[in-house]
Amino acid sequence: MRAMGTVFAVANQKGGVGKTTTCVNLAVYLASSGRRVLLVDLDPQCNATSSLDMRGAGRSIYDSVVSGGSLEGCVALSRRMGLDVVPSDSALAAAEVELAGEPGREYRLRDALAPLSERYEVILLDCPPSLGLMTVNALAAASAVVVPIQCEYLALEGLSQLMGTIGMVRSVLNPSLGLFGIVMTMFDGRTRLARQVVDEVRRHYPRELFCTLIPRSVYLSEAPSYGQSIFEYHPASKAARAYQMLGEEFIRRLDDRG
Ligand SMILES: Nc1ncnc2c1ncn2[C@@H]1O[C@H](COP(=O)(O)OP(=O)(O)O)[C@@H](O)[C@H]1O
Ligand SMILES: [Mg+2]
Repeated sequence: MRAMGTVFAVANQKGGVGKTTTCVNLAVYLASSGRRVLLVDLDPQCNATSSLDMRGAGRSIYDSVVSGGSLEGCVALSRRMGLDVVPSDSALAAAEVELAGEPGREYRLRDALAPLSERYEVILLDCPPSLGLMTVNALAAASAVVVPIQCEYLALEGLSQLMGTIGMVRSVLNPSLGLFGIVMTMFDGRTRLARQVVDEVRRHYPRELFCTLIPRSVYLSEAPSYGQSIFEYHPASKAARAYQMLGEEFIRRLDDRG
């Protein structure tokens, strides 16, 4: 049976490693290749929301996960075919405090997503840069994790902490949580360090590491300020080609999972 609505948490507790960039461009690519995709912005900084030009699109994830409204009422239609978005809101920063002591607070997102899962083939959760309640909610709701890692010194250190959290979530909240893949971002093939980091990650995670390396590209850093994905901002760039290849790898892995 084809798994419907596979939920992926795009997570790494480090900020600035390419979570949002990967989430947004993967979502746009998968939608453009005919998948029905939902992107949920779980970061109170709202970078995914603004990268897709979806600010002020109506209700936000806060209204569902914190206030308890239906998630369906928070889904905004993007102008991109096949891609829906649940925007975030800066109020989400208070979720940790507002939900303190609530029983089952780790499952708020999972429960909110349940009625929507049949409608989408892929649901991508853009996590904030912490291992706090929203990331835990994402890991509890997901079937698998996608981990972007910046090609830099000590890349593996942060990864082991994340793996510890994934292991904890697996044993306490979500036994079926898997590691879907690791994406190396901001790769600069001219530096020896970048190549060493990739080799080291490959040694530890040979099956998980995606073959596609996302290059460091000024176009990727410029596109969000125009509310565009890389495919809209500079479709002929190496960066667009890389996210296309990552998307294709992603689809192959998804199909292999059945
Ligand atoms: N491959 C890349 N090359 C150059 N800049 C990038 C690349 N990926 C992301 N960026 C930029 O780096 C910053 C952090 O990326 P972002 O995706 O927001 O990380 P995170 O969501 O993990 O905090 C953003 O300004 C983004 O535009
Ligand atoms: Mg982000």
